[in-house]
Amino acid sequence: MYYPEELVEEVRLKNDIVDVISGYVKLQKKGSSHFGLCPFHNEKSPSFSVSRGKQMYYCFGCGAGGNVFTFLMEYENYSFQEALKVLADRAGVELPKLEYSKEAKEKAELKTILLEVNKLAAKYFYVQLKSEQGRAAYTYLKDRKLSDETITAFGLGYSNKYSDDLYRYLKTKGYTDEVLLKAGLISADERHGAYDKFWNRVMFPIMDANNRVIGFGGRVMGDGKPKYLNSPETPVFDKSRNLYGLHRARISRKPYFLICEGYMDVIALHQAGFTNAVASLGTALTEGHAALIKRYVNQVYLTYDSDDAGTRAALRAIPILKSMGITAKVIRMDPYKDPDEFIKNLGAEAFEERIHKAGNGFLFSLKILEQDYDMASPEGRTGFLRAAAGRLAEFEEEIERSNYIEAVAKAYRVNVEELRKLVVKTALQSGMAKPVTRPKATVNKERRKEDGALKSQRILLTWLIEDENIFRQIAGVIGPEDFTEPLYHTVAELLYRQQEEGTMNPAQIMNRFTDEEEHRRVAELFHTRLPEISTAQEKEKALKETVVRIKQNSLDEASKSLDATDMEGLQRLMEGKRALQDMKELHISIN
Ligand code: UTP
Ligand code: MN
Repeated sequence: MYYPEELVEEVRLKNDIVDVISGYVKLQKKGSSHFGLCPFHNEKSPSFSVSRGKQMYYCFGCGAGGNVFTFLMEYENYSFQEALKVLADRAGVELPKLEYSKEAKEKAELKTILLEVNKLAAKYFYVQLKSEQGRAAYTYLKDRKLSDETITAFGLGYSNKYSDDLYRYLKTKGYTDEVLLKAGLISADERHGAYDKFWNRVMFPIMDANNRVIGFGGRVMGDGKPKYLNSPETPVFDKSRNLYGLHRARISRKPYFLICEGYMDVIALHQAGFTNAVASLGTALTEGHAALIKRYVNQVYLTYDSDDAGTRAALRAIPILKSMGITAKVIRMDPYKDPDEFIKNLGAEAFEERIHKAGNGFLFSLKILEQDYDMASPEGRTGFLRAAAGRLAEFEEEIERSNYIEAVAKAYRVNVEELRKLVVKTALQSGMAKPVTRPKATVNKERRKEDGALKSQRILLTWLIEDENIFRQIAGVIGPEDFTEPLYHTVAELLYRQQEEGTMNPAQIMNRFTDEEEHRRVAELFHTRLPEISTAQEKEKALKETVVRIKQNSLDEASKSLDATDMEGLQRLMEGKRALQDMKELHISIN
């Protein structure tokens, strides 16, 4: 189902990366590279570099990097195949019709058709809103203080009172009942036949990052139930991987997103100038959402409703975001219910102020914890501080833990050192009081060790690409088989082969990885953040340590899976161990 490698490479070679990126980013030549402002994060001085020689780009600020395909995948949110098609067109390379399997073809076709139907339906709803029968809906939106410009920008619409007018309209366009059912636009039963899912509601089309309509939310204009009716999940609508407002937020060029709960909150915020607002689609924030957010920003402000449910949602979201490396702050909306009402009453400037005053997510969670204790009594306060110490003990990284201990000490006016002692004591006690948690600790340790080994493998791959001199010296000691992670192993094999042939070309290697997730991981692999190193001596030391760690890990893995009767394997393992000893004496010259 994929295009031949030579063809992909031809497309890549015919699209010079500097030319392509120049269409998006203003670049200036400096030495052997071109520099500009990074389109993937907000910055004032250029740290985004594009190398014509390597045909790769890299941002020293946010770590984004890859080849010309990666760039379009990241910037336009294309799949690999889409990026390939656009670049083939650009260079006048004709792509052969692909021999898809029947199944894959049908799936792709269905998606195209569903997007087409959704777009037509959105247009239909929009026209209804602007016509006589939509007057009440239009007035409703106006009463909610939306401008015509905002209504158009979000493509808001109205579904009529008739039970089947959209259905009949789409039938005249030639779509089958089956397709309309799959799009989630109609329902059908034996008694009534086919009828529209949405009646007499204000319609909110839901767009993906590429402005394609993937589903709808429909609001009653009054107190009916349910307040919002949403499209079901369909082949083009995955609620856990899309965010309302993302198509506009992603181009807002702000270094953070505002995450709120509702459609109307997003719209009100955008209208007030906060074009970086998004909302999850009537579901709790998932890891899928966090991964999506991470592609654009490293920081978010949660502006959830100020009721209990909103608070609980924020508390649940904070660790999910944190696990993806996104820091979260919490904006309070009181005395109002949500951002929409806040802005309507106090305006954009007051909201901006709340952004500045936003509290750190962890401190926010302590604030909520306070409610379980009588903070006015000494016993209550002690109990609270013990619980807080328990949470502080959960920060694995020492610096982070220490910073939070200081922040908490300051916020609750207790002595830092005493709090620190309490944290240590709590950590020890909870360790001893609950022996069940011990196995988990070893699992964590194992995982950290594995993470360390993988990181070393990534660092070495980046080094090998950056410096052929290093490659030549390392190639004798570390082979592709020492890269234990399957993806790294494949990349290493390709790199070593190129090195043997004397044509180091990481940009070409990237062609091989057409699955979006894999492609991104390989792009990262070639741009691992290297340890901060200033002298050649330090570099030699770091390099040697990395090499030893990789070899050690590879031997550990090999001995784990070794069969006791495998004499040859045993021999290899012994040789490896000797090599590891030699390696500790190895001299790597850096120049
Ligand atoms: P809210 O009940 O907070 O509504 O739901 P809201 O956004 O403030 O809406 P308005 O201002 O009354 O119009 C937040 C979000 O939860 C989902 C929707 O995505 C909504 O925007 N929701 C809510 C539903 O899917 N169904 C419902 O019945 C209610
Ligand atoms: Mn609201």
